Amino acid sequence: MKQSGIFITFEGMDGSGKTTQMHRLADRLRAAGRTVLVTAEPGGPPIARAIRRIILDAANTEMSSVAEVLLYFASRAQNVDQWIRPALERGEVVLSDRFTDSSVVYQGVGRGLGVATILDLDRIACRGLKPDLTILVDVDPEPSLARARARNAAEPHPETRLDDESMDFHRRVHAAYHALAAAEPGRIKIIDGRAPIEDIERSVWEVVAPHV
Ligand code: TYD
Repeated sequence: MKQSGIFITFEGMDGSGKTTQMHRLADRLRAAGRTVLVTAEPGGPPIARAIRRIILDAANTEMSSVAEVLLYFASRAQNVDQWIRPALERGEVVLSDRFTDSSVVYQGVGRGLGVATILDLDRIACRGLKPDLTILVDVDPEPSLARARARNAAEPHPETRLDDESMDFHRRVHAAYHALAAAEPGRIKIIDGRAPIEDIERSVWEVVAPHV
């Protein structure tokens, strides 16, 4: 195994099962002797997690789209500077549950802010840091939204702001993910999220193993 840093992100609709898959990949990589940093956006280090609480608070119904996207990138900038870049420089594998692709599809396309705006913000916040590999766990928008809503209904402090968006919003996000994957087939690998968990885990490993 090479010991250079590698940055792998997981993307997909809410409730796609990507978080489970990311943790399984982390276990496999650790078993193979790699040091792994796991992070999730919005979030990561404490300052980024504090920003997350503002973004996802169901009470913040008046948040403007521009304020929202700037908060996502504020959280990301902190995560990149405090956790991600240092870990890559130490030669670790960094796994992130969501990254800039989420902002492209949810804010750029879903909210209609435009992809160019998102890429401008990415240049400021990430300064050229791009995932080496992105696993897109693909599920249809209807069942994924149902799963995400059911999960939130069971939580004492649900983070429902985005799950409350319309089905049309989620369909636009889904189509945008496919467009991204078609534009960058070398980086973004689509994995069928409807398969049994073990099969998905194996597919993810087949994609990742040559890179680590
Ligand atoms: P989270 O509870 O982490 O959900 P999931 O398990 O589906 O990732 O909530 C993250 C929410 O934030 C999710 O609905 C997607 C959204 N999001 C954006 O809209 N833009 C972004 O840049 C990021 C990172 C997340």
